[in-house]
Amino acid sequence: MTVRAIVFDAYGTLFDVYSIGALAERLFPGRGEALAVLLRDKQIEYTRLRTMSSRYKPFWDVTRDALVFSCRKLGLDLTREAEDALMAQYAALPPFPENLNVLQELRAMGLQLAILSNGNTAMLESVVVAAGLAPMFDHLLSVDAVRKFKTAPEAYQLGPDRFGFGVEQMIFVSSNCWDVCGATWFGYRTFWVNRADAPMEELDVVPHARGRTLTDLLTYVQQQAVIG
Ligand code: LAC
Repeated sequence: MTVRAIVFDAYGTLFDVYSIGALAERLFPGRGEALAVLLRDKQIEYTRLRTMSSRYKPFWDVTRDALVFSCRKLGLDLTREAEDALMAQYAALPPFPENLNVLQELRAMGLQLAILSNGNTAMLESVVVAAGLAPMFDHLLSVDAVRKFKTAPEAYQLGPDRFGFGVEQMIFVSSNCWDVCGATWFGYRTFWVNRADAPMEELDVVPHARGRTLTDLLTYVQQQAVIG
C-alpha cells in the first residue's frame, strides 16, 4: 500500500485523558479514578447527543459540562477553583512517552502527519504546544470546522479535504475503538492503538491493524508501507 499521511486522534491516543485522575484524587480523595472515567464517558456521550440533534458546542465546553455532571453524579462538591484546575489540566494533558520518538521516525520516513480531533482548535493547540509536539504536525484538524463530532462522515472528511488526496493513502490512528471503526467505515486505512487492552467493538467493522502503543504503529508502517 502507498501511504502519504498519518492522521491521529488526539485525546486518549496522543494525550493521556485519564491522567486527570491524579489531580482529581488530590481534590476528591478516593474518587479520582471514578471521576476521570465518568468524565470521559459523559464527554463522548454528549458529543454524540449534540451531533445527533444538531446542537453543536465546542469540545472544551462539552468537556466542562461533562465535568460538572460527573461531579454531581458522584456527589462531589465542585468548587469554581477545582473546576478551573481540572480544566487547566485538560488543556495540558501529558503525552504518552513514546510519542515524540515515533512521530520523529514517521516524519523521517517522509510521511505527513496531522491530528483530526473532536477538540476545538484552541484546546488542540494548547495541548500540542504544552507537550512540545507542535513541530511534528503539518495540520491540526478540528471538527469545529464542520460543527459535527466524530463519527459523523463530515468530520472524517476533513483529512482528505486538507491533504488533497484520498483516504486510501492515509492511515487513521486512534486508541478509541469506536473512532477507528468510524474511520474504517469512512474509508481510511486504520490502526487501533489499544492502550487499555479493550475488547473489540461489535459494529460489523474491524480496523485494518492494531497494537498497544505508537511504537507498534511505527513497526506496522515500516513493514507495510510504500511511502508515496
Ligand atoms: C478526539 C477524541 C475522540 O480527540 O478523543 O477526537
